[in-house]
Amino acid sequence: MTEDFDVRLVEDVKSYTPDPAYRKNAWMPDYQKAYAEFMKNPEKFWEAQAKELDWIRPWDKVLEWNYPYAKWFTGAQLNITLNCLDRHANNSRRNKVALIWRGEEGRERIFTYQKLLSQVCRFANALKKIGVKKGDCVCIYMPLVPEQLIAMLACARIGAVHSVVFGGFGSAALNMRINDAGAKVIITADISIRRGKAIQLKAIVDEATVDAPTVEHVIVLRRREPLVDLQEIELDFHEMMAGMPDTCEPEVMDAEDPFFILYTSGSTGKPKGIVHTCAGYMVGTHYTSKNVFDIKENDTYWCTADPGWITGHSYIVYGPLAVGATVFISELTPDYPDAGSYWSLIEEQKITIFYTAPTAIRMFMKMGEEWPDKYNLSSLRIIGSVGEPLNPEAFEWYYRVIGKKRCPIVDTWWQTETGMIMITTVIGEPMHPGFAGKPLPGVIADVVDKEGKPVKPGTGGLLVVKSPWPSMLRTVYKDDERYRKYWYTIDGVYTVGDLAVKSRDGYIMILGRSDDIIIVAGHNIGTAEVESALVSHHAVAEAAVIGKPDEVKGNSIKAFVILRVGNKPGDRLRQDLLHHVRSTLGPIAMPHEIDFVDKLPKTRSGKIMRRVLKAKEMGMDPGDVSTLEE
Ligand code: PRX
Repeated sequence: MTEDFDVRLVEDVKSYTPDPAYRKNAWMPDYQKAYAEFMKNPEKFWEAQAKELDWIRPWDKVLEWNYPYAKWFTGAQLNITLNCLDRHANNSRRNKVALIWRGEEGRERIFTYQKLLSQVCRFANALKKIGVKKGDCVCIYMPLVPEQLIAMLACARIGAVHSVVFGGFGSAALNMRINDAGAKVIITADISIRRGKAIQLKAIVDEATVDAPTVEHVIVLRRREPLVDLQEIELDFHEMMAGMPDTCEPEVMDAEDPFFILYTSGSTGKPKGIVHTCAGYMVGTHYTSKNVFDIKENDTYWCTADPGWITGHSYIVYGPLAVGATVFISELTPDYPDAGSYWSLIEEQKITIFYTAPTAIRMFMKMGEEWPDKYNLSSLRIIGSVGEPLNPEAFEWYYRVIGKKRCPIVDTWWQTETGMIMITTVIGEPMHPGFAGKPLPGVIADVVDKEGKPVKPGTGGLLVVKSPWPSMLRTVYKDDERYRKYWYTIDGVYTVGDLAVKSRDGYIMILGRSDDIIIVAGHNIGTAEVESALVSHHAVAEAAVIGKPDEVKGNSIKAFVILRVGNKPGDRLRQDLLHHVRSTLGPIAMPHEIDFVDKLPKTRSGKIMRRVLKAKEMGMDPGDVSTLEE
């Protein structure tokens, strides 16, 4: 952790400054001034942000901080959909396009704010009719189609707590999330479509609900003819909406009422249900959508994430809609029908703001410049990145080939837990490839040692946040101890779990995770989750999993497996194990390599030393091995 990085490297890194017009016209034209204003009076700063939104009742207090518990905008009442929908639909944005969806083969669906509001109200009424009430948990397991967003917003409308599960998760992962949250209703689709192929989503739900006692209804969006048969507790998405009134009084939510749960990997086999609440999340995502992406009235904004991740929650659905943006979404993958799919969509839709992940950028780099070069990308104004470090080579490529040395890049650092972007380079400020940037006004972050003391510039350390922020997680569902750990690992600050290094002028470079989480293609995978999936296979006695650097995905998963007596190692078993992980956790958690071994390096107390496995794998010094068993 105290490894010295070359300070020169940090200081002499390249610098790009966008055309001054960007800064002049930005919502946040002066980062330094905004930051100073925040530091002068943090609560006043956040209050000013909150005042940009509509409230049913204003707050009595901006912040009640009772370490490590924060309450924001206490006494206030609100419903986020009033800001995401009604505020626009009832005013001058009534006929403005809120949402454009693109499917395969040129299929397109367009929703104005007014139409989106009607659809959300209809579905909200349908949910009410089957008995969904404020505080009930609804699990959304859907492909990237407008109904996925409609389902989320309808839950928000009636105060139901949604738990969106990414449609790429397998049945065991889905089952665990349904049961942990006690979901009463599941909303799904018959299929999702990837690279021209149908994936049977409902079949996964069928498997995941065999043992899910809280589930009363499964709502199915039927996309395929002939329509799939529905069982007794199953309902058709559109049939439910038909005949429902297109207005629905929004549920009055208290500021700190739970808004949603979103599961993220932790260092144990069980994912953490991150709990966000209503007011703070709304203020944080609105503030950052507006100021980081600088969304203006005429922008067409595309974030390539899926609403099943926090990026989609905050920067496809709630933030951009609160700002009144035109949001583009697409079910297409970056490499289908060909490697030009994203670029053709940018040209077709005249996308102005594009937000994607480093893993995608590195994949595009590999596929060659001729693909983006075929298309007119001149509509682009701002390009963004999220999910893992944007390495300098990828930055340079993105800046030159996609942004044409014209578009500022916002490399945004944040987490499921933070709810909103925390560190980035604000539009107009100088950009340094490799560095995400500085803490946004509203955020106090630093790089410290294990005792919490700031480290020298150029020295690696732990990234921490030093004061509460509105959209921070409030707890881990049914496991507050895990919440407290974020704030007690180092006394007084929120420990992020990332390693970072700071330059002399305060730019932060994120180096990667400091814990047992592997980021594969931008997705957090807990080593323990994959290990327990492997061990749940009848042939496996023990398993250990490490992350190995991968040119495109950032990391790939390598597993070391000890077999139970009587099982023969070999390719067949290897395939069987891969299939097993795929069907339990989903394709995103599949190991890239599996080695069959007789022994695993362990501490005397029996803990697997993954660090030693990794060092050996990479041909590096394993470091301190004094606790190793043999
Ligand atoms: O390690 C950091 C990495 O992703 C983690 C958070 O993952 P998740 O909760 O899934 O949210 C991802 C989308 C916000 C962080 O702890 N990470 C995220 N953004 C960046 C990043 N690492 C480097 N640079 C980033 N811009």
